[in-house]
Amino acid sequence: MAMHPFRYNFGLYHWRRRLAPIGAAIAAAILTGAIRRRTDRRSHRVVTILIAAGAIARALRVAHQALSPPPWAIERGKYDALAARLPLSDADRVLDVGCGTGRSLVGLAPHVRPGSEVLGLDVFDDRIILGNGPALARRNGARAGLTATPIVGDAARLPVADDSIDVVTVCRVLHDLDASDVDRTLRELRRVCRPDGTIGVLELPLVPDGVSRDPGVYWPERVSVTGFRIETLDSIDRDGRDGSYLVLVASPSGSDDRDR
Ligand SMILES: C[S@@+](CC[C@H](N)C(=O)[O-])C[C@H]1O[C@@H](n2cnc3c(N)ncnc32)[C@H](O)[C@@H]1O
Repeated sequence: MAMHPFRYNFGLYHWRRRLAPIGAAIAAAILTGAIRRRTDRRSHRVVTILIAAGAIARALRVAHQALSPPPWAIERGKYDALAARLPLSDADRVLDVGCGTGRSLVGLAPHVRPGSEVLGLDVFDDRIILGNGPALARRNGARAGLTATPIVGDAARLPVADDSIDVVTVCRVLHDLDASDVDRTLRELRRVCRPDGTIGVLELPLVPDGVSRDPGVYWPERVSVTGFRIETLDSIDRDGRDGSYLVLVASPSGSDDRDR
């Protein structure tokens, strides 16, 4: 059965930064038209056309970036790679930290056992992602066959009980945090994860602002020092884009450093 191309709406990332040049190009084009009608001076006409052409070229570049991936595209490969390494088919409770508009929920959905309880937590800040909110997370999850409960909250202070989650995922979130919040967040994952549970980290080849480390070294190190034993660590292709995704699976280590 053919799938509707706009089945999902994951919102537009960095929409303010990206829509501003598009608005500027439209304004420049309108202004150019108005000036062309009012002036006979060839030099004025040439200058305005050059300005409009520059603005339009920039807007096209920005629009291309804004639609890569498009708000309706899921690009499953990275989530499949993570899910294949997680014991999702045995998990009663799953928590996706930083679920946003639900791309990771949709990506993980085919691997989640029917009847499992799935929680999606996010600050749901729509200043960065247009439409970021519990409604889109729930709707996109439902369209993928997942009954996910969105929770508004901070990854560094999870409103979730100790030792209560079988599988905790955090997909493309940690690099967005302040460096000082990375360890706090990973310790929260450690706190809520059952002693025999698992965490799955999917990360871009990026580190937090102010950190000058190789992501492939930095992330495993942070996960290890916050009380986990790394089970698997893989790099996977980013569909032709620079760098690789890091796919890391870990379980709570015997030495619980939650009080440190
Ligand atoms: C790039 S999106 C990733 C969304 C989804 N997990 C995915 O794989 O597409 C990053 C998400 O992390 C969320 N986020 C950033 N800081 C957070 C925090 N301190 N607590 C919870 N969520 C946070 C943002 O609101 C955003 O929805």
